Amino acid sequence: MTQTLPVGLTATAVVAASSANLGPGFDSLGLALSLYDEIVVEVTESGLVVEVEGEGAGQVPLDSSHLVVRAIEHGLQSTGFQVAGLKVICRNDIPHSRGLGSSAAAVVGGLAVVNGLVTQVGSEPLSDAELIQLASEFEGHPDNASAAVLGGAVVSWTEHEGVLPRYSAVPIQLHPDIHLFPAIPEERSSTAETRVLLPEHVSHTDARFNLSRAALLVVALTQRPDLLMEATEDVLHQPQRAAAIPRSAEYLQILRRCQVSAALSGAGPAVIAFSTQSELPAKAVEYGIANGFTVSEMRVGEGVRWTSGVVART
Ligand code: HSE
Repeated sequence: MTQTLPVGLTATAVVAASSANLGPGFDSLGLALSLYDEIVVEVTESGLVVEVEGEGAGQVPLDSSHLVVRAIEHGLQSTGFQVAGLKVICRNDIPHSRGLGSSAAAVVGGLAVVNGLVTQVGSEPLSDAELIQLASEFEGHPDNASAAVLGGAVVSWTEHEGVLPRYSAVPIQLHPDIHLFPAIPEERSSTAETRVLLPEHVSHTDARFNLSRAALLVVALTQRPDLLMEATEDVLHQPQRAAAIPRSAEYLQILRRCQVSAALSGAGPAVIAFSTQSELPAKAVEYGIANGFTVSEMRVGEGVRWTSGVVART
């Protein structure tokens, strides 16, 4: 039976950006970044009000097709609740269409804010495993969704045995010497558009290449950052996407020529560099800036936080 939530309940969720793939870990590895969106909701008597501040303001729809609103609806249905009306405020710092997991953050944040509502009427919150499952089903990218839910670095995997895919993830502990430098361009790109560039089938040789690099990357990220250059090599998706995002592909090459390990962030066009140095080489930074990238160090992001009520942003 569906229960109606009382008017006046409020809740807040804070959710991180994420970088998927990390080179060879296509559709599997992910990493949360210290760049956050905040979602505040209030149950109202009727109607829907959506306000967007920051990234996406003036660009995304302010009706029931808004991704956060759809995720909230999905979360309410999944927990057996409904609302008469809703006010949703999105304060966004995660740039859209850059490969930084803004869609996964919207969905994870929308589901998490439901936890902040339903726990006020004594209902159990969705667990991390349920958030990963629901968000991945809804948004389609478990590598981003798992990083947004759990924070830190994650390995995610999908089982296709039943009617619906089953999504799971485990965290891995990022080595403290690794510094993260996302390079975010002004230029946008859609994951769907660069995903169709990928071939349906890959050779055994290429599969073997990526298997070894992805396995090595888990070792490099957790214990052996000295292996990051070799461990971030990929032949399954970055070369195929290069033609659609040539500036990013070139920047990747420049970084690697400067002996900085780097990968496309998700489907791009953002790039992420990993270094054991606290600064990137000047040449690498200058090239990025000259070519329209904002390059800055970020910390590893925290897992999604939700709370009942409206909280001040930290
Ligand atoms: N693994 C996905 C892709 C990530 O590369 O298409 C999308 O953010």
